[in-house]
Amino acid sequence: MRHILSVDDLSRGRIESLFRTANSLQGMPAQARAKMLDGRVVVTMFVEPSTRTRLSFESAALRLGAGVTGFSEAMSTSMKKGESLEDTARVCEGYGDVLVLRHPDIGSAARAAAVVKCPVVNAGDGANEHPTQTLVDLYTMARAFGRIDGLRVGFCGDLKYGRTVHSLLAAMQKFSGMQAVMLPARGLPLPAARAERAIAGGVKVTDAESMRELARNVDVLYMTRIQTERMDGAAEPQAMCLRAEDLHGCAPSLRVMHPLPRRDEIHSDVDGTPHAMYFEQAHAGVPVRQAVLMDVLGVSL
Ligand code: NCD
Repeated sequence: MRHILSVDDLSRGRIESLFRTANSLQGMPAQARAKMLDGRVVVTMFVEPSTRTRLSFESAALRLGAGVTGFSEAMSTSMKKGESLEDTARVCEGYGDVLVLRHPDIGSAARAAAVVKCPVVNAGDGANEHPTQTLVDLYTMARAFGRIDGLRVGFCGDLKYGRTVHSLLAAMQKFSGMQAVMLPARGLPLPAARAERAIAGGVKVTDAESMRELARNVDVLYMTRIQTERMDGAAEPQAMCLRAEDLHGCAPSLRVMHPLPRRDEIHSDVDGTPHAMYFEQAHAGVPVRQAVLMDVLGVSL
């Protein structure tokens, strides 16, 4: 089964093939594209809030001619009545050909995949992973820089609970000469096991002291939101804020990325600079997730 539960399920070859599919789909006439998943149904099971991930999966499916059904909050499903994730997944597999699941529990996508016979795509399992966001991130980088190998990525914000950080760092291990420079929000550093794994996987991991220093030493500045919902009511640390003035004197090629939604970590005065790439990144969600759906459903161009 071609699940995508973790970045571990994505070899470099599979990532590159997904990106070739995403590029080809964008070059196709819309009418031909709209036949690719004719007759298929995608089930979006979203137990946590989402804008980009759910809507880009749904838009991707609809534009390939697939139908979409699903839910965007557990309160409207029988999970509210106490149904287990496993039972809900078993039921939903009868209503579609692929399950796209977002859930607050670590390992939830793997649990669903263990009980169904259709492919499962992890659209975020708690603080663990978000592998398709990583595909969107890498695709956006590849388009901006013409390569992924050798890029230096600065990670700023909630590196402890940020699942997009965890998945992107894991994926960087599949490329060569990658560097990760860390600037965590206070009390939210990258878990040691993830740092050790990245280093063992060939990523050079270092720390930065300030936003200005970080911005001057990376190709991509990957900003993230503090994941308040995972902090069990603990006091929320102050987010570091990137402002346009921090980018003065930086390499013209520096790109600022963010999986979004942002709160205070990127000031709106960055939006108008040539460095801002976060909205482009969000829009890449459609072609990349189209490629993901075709891949897991075993449909080729
Ligand atoms: C991220 C997520 O859900 O992990 N959002 C997204 O999918 N684009 C990041 C976040 O919520 O902070």
